[in-house]
Amino acid sequence: MTVSELFPGVFKLTFGTPEPGTPATQRYVRPPRREALAELGTAPMPFAPEAIEFRTLPRGVRLTLPMSPGEDIYGLGLQLKSLRSTGKKRTLRVNSDPAVDTGDSHAPAPLYFSSSGYGVMLDTARYATFYCGGNEPFDAAAPEELPPESRRSKVLLTEEALYAAAREHLAPMVIDLPTARGITLYVFGGPTLLAAVRRYVLFCGGGCLPPEWGLGCFYRACGSSDQAQVAALAAELRAEHLPCDVLGLEPGWHSKAYSCSFRWHPERFPEPQKLLDELKELGFRVNLWEHAFVHPSSPLYRQLSSCAGDFKVWQGLVPDFTLPEAETCFADYHREQFTSRGVSSFKLDECDNSDFIASPWSFPECAQFPSGRDGEEMHSMFGALYMQTIERACREAGIRTYGSVRNAHLFAPPQPFVLYSDLYDHRDFIRGVTSMGFAGMLWTPELRHAESREDYLRRLQAMVLAPQMLLNIWSMPHPPWRQLQRERNVQNELYPPEVQAELADRTRESLELRMRFLPYLYAAFARYHFEGIPPFRAPAMDYPQEEALRGVDYAWLAGNDLLVVPFRAGMTELEFPLPPGNWYDFYTGKAHRGSVLLRPELTTLPILVRENATIPLAEPEEKVVANMRYRLTVKTFGPNPEPARLFADDGVSWAFESGQGAWGTVAPDGTLSPELQTRYCRG
Ligand code: GAL
Repeated sequence: MTVSELFPGVFKLTFGTPEPGTPATQRYVRPPRREALAELGTAPMPFAPEAIEFRTLPRGVRLTLPMSPGEDIYGLGLQLKSLRSTGKKRTLRVNSDPAVDTGDSHAPAPLYFSSSGYGVMLDTARYATFYCGGNEPFDAAAPEELPPESRRSKVLLTEEALYAAAREHLAPMVIDLPTARGITLYVFGGPTLLAAVRRYVLFCGGGCLPPEWGLGCFYRACGSSDQAQVAALAAELRAEHLPCDVLGLEPGWHSKAYSCSFRWHPERFPEPQKLLDELKELGFRVNLWEHAFVHPSSPLYRQLSSCAGDFKVWQGLVPDFTLPEAETCFADYHREQFTSRGVSSFKLDECDNSDFIASPWSFPECAQFPSGRDGEEMHSMFGALYMQTIERACREAGIRTYGSVRNAHLFAPPQPFVLYSDLYDHRDFIRGVTSMGFAGMLWTPELRHAESREDYLRRLQAMVLAPQMLLNIWSMPHPPWRQLQRERNVQNELYPPEVQAELADRTRESLELRMRFLPYLYAAFARYHFEGIPPFRAPAMDYPQEEALRGVDYAWLAGNDLLVVPFRAGMTELEFPLPPGNWYDFYTGKAHRGSVLLRPELTTLPILVRENATIPLAEPEEKVVANMRYRLTVKTFGPNPEPARLFADDGVSWAFESGQGAWGTVAPDGTLSPELQTRYCRG
């Protein structure tokens, strides 16, 4: 074993002979933010390196890491089925249909954080299994301690008690890493849980800072729309004054979509440049749906045929993006054809993996790629490699992008893409926002369709303070405020006209609320980039010492000062355990302490505000325009409000990476510090 401290509180431990081509060796890994890491100060290793047991066994590597009683484990990628991994077995299989709580995910990642204030990352693309404190090792050499007689003879009569009994003893973290003969671990010290997460994010290069328009609203048009229908939709959104920054086109824009030709459909989109220009004129950014499987009719097919894996997907070749020539070819094509012609963003679909239940659409784990990577390694890293390729096509055209993706892995924080899913359970979608922070990823609880008016309003609200406000209407010909869809593929019904009008108004209100928070959200993302603080966090990340908050997977902290508790259809009230201190109702200003009984109107997203916060709110715009000045008002909470911090740059270019842009303050009386005055004014 070798141990080194790379940065204060960031340790690298290597055991045996690690595999080649691991995530840490990929081009998508960015330089750590050294100065910000140094500012976090030192932190010791959370346990002695000798306390880690490493063994190479015929099936691969086994690692055993110490855990203490009462310790909770979070992370292991985006987990939609439960927030805490404590006592669970999680296998990190990439799966687009994670139906049960086994670790399967669109975006699993071998990275966990402990409530005791540290994090551990394994540099591997293997489907490792983590036994998170469930199994005690047996040591034949150690004398056996008999449990007390009373406990031994007790007969347990419920499943709960039976299985809880297995956890009465101190059990370590056991990690099973098939195939490998060695592994590199990175350990992130605390002392707090949030400090450990920040060290990880900063080690990865800091979180992404989306362009301001990326924090506006996204609307994805029906997949079968043609050019005229897209233009009509754009005109309708503007006529109805429904805020929208990004219009997304779904598969129908391709001449072949499964697999992709990456060429406009000649009949459906006869004049793509005209459409792109018209949408730009109306102030929309354009996002294109695609996946990376290349159809034989695509101009990319021939060029990529020597850089592809040995299985096809939907008749298309699968590029090996670990090869520089594959990345360059794909990125150049996208720059020439799309990003230099007015496309600003992409939705990178199908880059996760199929579980072969719905249909066997993806490549198998035993596929082989020219770089030497196999299908398992490729599935883990495919999204990260794909994001890197597409971001390059945007960057080289001068575009700071923000898009969508269905797979991510280690080193995700700087990648400006938000995860989404075809699943649709609202409880799971809300939980995703709480779990993504421990993965260094972003996730959207999108609105696709609704079973009722209540379901519609609740799903819409849940996105107001989330990474992306996304109306993903790819499967319906009409906007969702006109159309009820009980289930996918079930006959659609139109709402009565008065309901349509009312829902359009409610939709506008939620989208406008999002736009009011835009400067606040932008500052939260700037903190993610510069300081490593995830913009959206499970309450447990900031308050692991609060037992009542450890398992809260239905509410999150947004930025520094807001706590969001989204309601779902069927919920009428909820007693919510508050973090320490006074918390104020965002709408009424009423103070609460200890806990709060929430009974929100159907049209209200419950938001609580930290004591003494000043919340800047913008006059809602329908779209973000380059270098516009946001008109701000403030709301203050508590007896001694402190100034709010905002970040001001041009909001659209990469200049902030080379030091342009500045932090400034908004005083409780609304006075703006000089740094902010080019981008903000009093409303
Ligand atoms: C799915 C994707 C959906 C939508 C659809 C279009 O794979 O998750 O959001 O884009 O494809 O066919």
